[in-house]
Amino acid sequence: MFSRLATRSVASSRPLARSFAAPQQSWSRGMKVLAILYRGGDAAKQEPRLLGTVENQLGIREWLESQGHEYIVSDSKEGPNSDLAKHIVDAEVVITTPFHPGYLTRDLLNTAKNLKLCVTAGVGSDHVDLKTASQKNIDVLEVTGSNVTSVAEHVVMSILLLVRNFVPAHEMIERGDWQVSEIARNAFDLEGKTVGTIGAGRIGYRVLERLMPFDTKEHLYYDFATLPAEAEKKVRARRVEDLKEMVAQSDIVTVNCPLHEGTRGLVNAELLKHFKKGAYLVNTARGAICDREAVAQALKSGQLSGYAGDVWNVQPAPKDHPWRTMKNPLGAGNGMVPHYSGTTLDAQARYAAGTRTILENYLKGKAQKPEDTIVKDGKIFSKAYGGK
Ligand code: NAI
Repeated sequence: MFSRLATRSVASSRPLARSFAAPQQSWSRGMKVLAILYRGGDAAKQEPRLLGTVENQLGIREWLESQGHEYIVSDSKEGPNSDLAKHIVDAEVVITTPFHPGYLTRDLLNTAKNLKLCVTAGVGSDHVDLKTASQKNIDVLEVTGSNVTSVAEHVVMSILLLVRNFVPAHEMIERGDWQVSEIARNAFDLEGKTVGTIGAGRIGYRVLERLMPFDTKEHLYYDFATLPAEAEKKVRARRVEDLKEMVAQSDIVTVNCPLHEGTRGLVNAELLKHFKKGAYLVNTARGAICDREAVAQALKSGQLSGYAGDVWNVQPAPKDHPWRTMKNPLGAGNGMVPHYSGTTLDAQARYAAGTRTILENYLKGKAQKPEDTIVKDGKIFSKAYGGK
């Protein structure tokens, strides 16, 4: 039913434009919008709320075509013959998603003759070369806040499943075995533990809020910005200015900052040496913030007791990616899943609606929300990405 490239020709969209568009409105001009989304397969055919898929197209095809715009949707994103490379050349708007990132590199952006706007359907625009986008005066926006609760819940779940040694316990049951001591020898309570977050923005803060009922010992955070005193008090958070000091005091470290030049490879072999022996690390921010080999090695040696998350340095992750199968010395400690924490059905409804709002603002010449704006007027605007 769905071709690999889900698109209608410009010609076929014109009659729709005539029947629905209001000709007086300045935003009825035709433009080319390209969306790179993940393929949803049978699941997306059966579940229309999987809006972020190639099949369900963020639910905006009819609306865009009714305005006379051309809308091209594909999952083909790698290499010179990909639909991304082919269509970026004359697209005015490119929509991408962190879940199946269309990497908008310098080389690719330099081929874009007409590009004015990149929209991230979700949160996290590190797959866009923000420096090149600003140099080329291409605005970059994302749907800030759209999935932050979804991710915060996943972080809390991941902390619990590592600390309580859940995954091997379930695998044991599936195998037909029953050996309580094998699991209990490395299972603990979350109560009384110290949790440190790298980044205390929308997600990091929500994680701390959600940890409050567990009676954790202390919450630490490392961030450019200090939280207001009231906000700190509410989640019993204490800022630690030196990252090494923070990880040295934490039983569990969770990564909740964006990926940019200042955070790429931040959790590397050197920093891992400063972690408490046997600490847990949860990263749902971006794979490349943690060094791939250093993390695998730290888990193997027992320096880390567990690593969990849903983000990978390349997505989709290659079959032989060490994070798929890495284990601690007791054969456990891996809570890795595909990138889905921020793409629950609830989140998809929010980021699809937010993408449409950004497009509407663009088409009507209305100001965008400052919190959604990553690059604007040739400058990196977002403080979280190092903007001033
Ligand atoms: P946010 O902008 O509200 O918070 C980010 C925080 O990180 C800010 O407080 C900022 O000051 C801090 N920060 C930036 N650079 C830092 C550095 N070098 N050291 C310490 N702190 C630093 O962003 P939000 O909404 O909390 O999202 C954070 C990240 O989570 C996103 O950029 C994205 O990469 C990731 N994410 C992952 C999702 C998933 O599905 N796994 C979904 C949504 C976001």
